[in-house]
Amino acid sequence: MTLSAGQAVDVLRAAGEPTRLRILALLAREELAVLELCRVLDQSQPRVSRHLKLLAEAGLVERFPDGAWVFYRLTGGGQAGELISEMLGRIDPADPVLARDAERLIAVRAERADAASEYFARNAARWDEIRSLYVSETAVEAAILKAAGRGPFRRLVDLGTGAGRMLTLLGPHAEHALGLDLSQQMLNIARNQVAEAGLERCELRHGDIFGTRLPDASADLVVVHQVLHYLADPAAAVREAARLVEPGGKLIIVDFAPHNLEYLREQHQHRRLGFSDAEMTRWLAESSLVHVDVEALAPARDGGLTVKIWVAERARQPQRTAA
Ligand SMILES: C[S@@+](CC[C@H](N)C(=O)[O-])C[C@H]1O[C@@H](n2cnc3c(N)ncnc32)[C@H](O)[C@@H]1O
Repeated sequence: MTLSAGQAVDVLRAAGEPTRLRILALLAREELAVLELCRVLDQSQPRVSRHLKLLAEAGLVERFPDGAWVFYRLTGGGQAGELISEMLGRIDPADPVLARDAERLIAVRAERADAASEYFARNAARWDEIRSLYVSETAVEAAILKAAGRGPFRRLVDLGTGAGRMLTLLGPHAEHALGLDLSQQMLNIARNQVAEAGLERCELRHGDIFGTRLPDASADLVVVHQVLHYLADPAAAVREAARLVEPGGKLIIVDFAPHNLEYLREQHQHRRLGFSDAEMTRWLAESSLVHVDVEALAPARDGGLTVKIWVAERARQPQRTAA
């Protein structure tokens, strides 16, 4: 479908203003919070918000509140989106105003990374301690890649994305990837990781694994990596993750086999000391997922943790339920 002349005028009018053009150029680089845009543009929030409202009304940008923050991203796709990216592609990147904006964006990113890594530093040491209890991360990641299959995936959803490792691992095989986490700090780390990995079609959202507010059957690959053992109700999280899997799609859950390292509970906030195949398989079956496959990665040393990878699929045809 093409644009009518009137629609083209609306699009060009929305983009045809210096600040709005700068906003579009910035959002073409990455999704940004309103306050971040204000900092880069060096303009007040009411002013920037007014411009964003006009761009949103013209369908050029998308607004998404994320916890206490509000983010914007280019709507992308469609005739209007293509017209905008064609136009942006024709502007000299060395243009002094746009180049200065790009530099300020780098500074904003660096501040974001500093704040996030300070938080990460506080926790990362503890995670490394846990990691040393099991087989190498490389082996786990290789097994996850194998379990996911070749793709390409239409839509990947990573629940409890943390620093976004699953997104940078599997995102290159996905047309669109979404990472969801309850921690704004972790999302900031993930935002930097995916930007560094050059993953443009990667979205990060604040959200709860118990109620993602994502549509049913909206993903062909859903991943829950090292999240369930922190949760009060892992079965409910599995149900919610499974709800997102479309027919023919896969759910990959990575967690520990049952263990007795009780100190992980006291010192590392683990609530569950691993999961048995029987309970995981039951949860997956209760969510009507089929072909459950399990892989166990034994620990590198005695007394360590076994990592389990459970892979299940949603059948392409609805399953007949027993009478
Ligand atoms: C150990 S990290 C694992 C992160 C990531 N999946 C990875 O493997 O690198 C656990 C993550 O789960 C997130 N989390 C905990 N409870 C959550 C919930 N109810 N909804 C969404 N994320 C949650 C935490 O914020 C944290 O980032």
